[in-house]
Amino acid sequence: MKTNPKYIVFDGMDGSGKGTQMKLLQETFGDSVVFTREPGGTPFAEEIRTLALDNPLAGKSTPLNNFLLFMAAREELQQNLVVPALRSGKHVFSDRGDSSTYAFQLHGEEHEELLDVFTCTRELVFAEGNGRRQPDRYIVFDLPAHVARERALRDPRRVQNRFDLRNLNYYERVQTGFRKFAQHYPVVFVDAMQSREDVHRSVKEILAKEFAA
Ligand code: TMP
Repeated sequence: MKTNPKYIVFDGMDGSGKGTQMKLLQETFGDSVVFTREPGGTPFAEEIRTLALDNPLAGKSTPLNNFLLFMAAREELQQNLVVPALRSGKHVFSDRGDSSTYAFQLHGEEHEELLDVFTCTRELVFAEGNGRRQPDRYIVFDLPAHVARERALRDPRRVQNRFDLRNLNYYERVQTGFRKFAQHYPVVFVDAMQSREDVHRSVKEILAKEFAA
């Protein structure tokens, strides 16, 4: 049991190599860390994931509704996985987080008018005092938007969701979204153009500093 367990979010554009890095982290840290993902991570949140990512009706609904689906999955994950894991003294590593909502829904989808509702619901979901807290660190895999898009489209392992067909402008807006998010929240960018081994090494160095803090 760790006295100061950390809550770390890993994020990036589709095609950033995040999936590969999450696998390497699982091999490195094993059961000493609780691994999860957003949207998803609990049975109910996985249901919301299917609705948000795969159901064409979600795409036809309003921007606010799409935003709320991701926040709803997040609220469920906090209550039923993140808080219990941190309370039991385990680190939590999450594949995506609210950084994705900021980058994809507010910037990729061009709905910056959702900023107030983002800030407000984020504060509720991460409200301190009931065992919750905001992530200690966001590690964002960064690479040129066109490279990320080409990789995402080429990757045969990727289960294509309704977000994978986006054009280059969309990817560029998502990248801008991550950069803007980093102006407000504790983000470290990792150069995802390095080899997968070097990216993994960089991530471990960031984590070592975070664990020592
Ligand atoms: P994944 O394939 O890396 O798990 O990501 C699933 C997709 O969900 C990805 O295209 C980004 C998208 N997404 C959002 O649009 N908003 C969010 O808040 C989250 C967590 C993911």
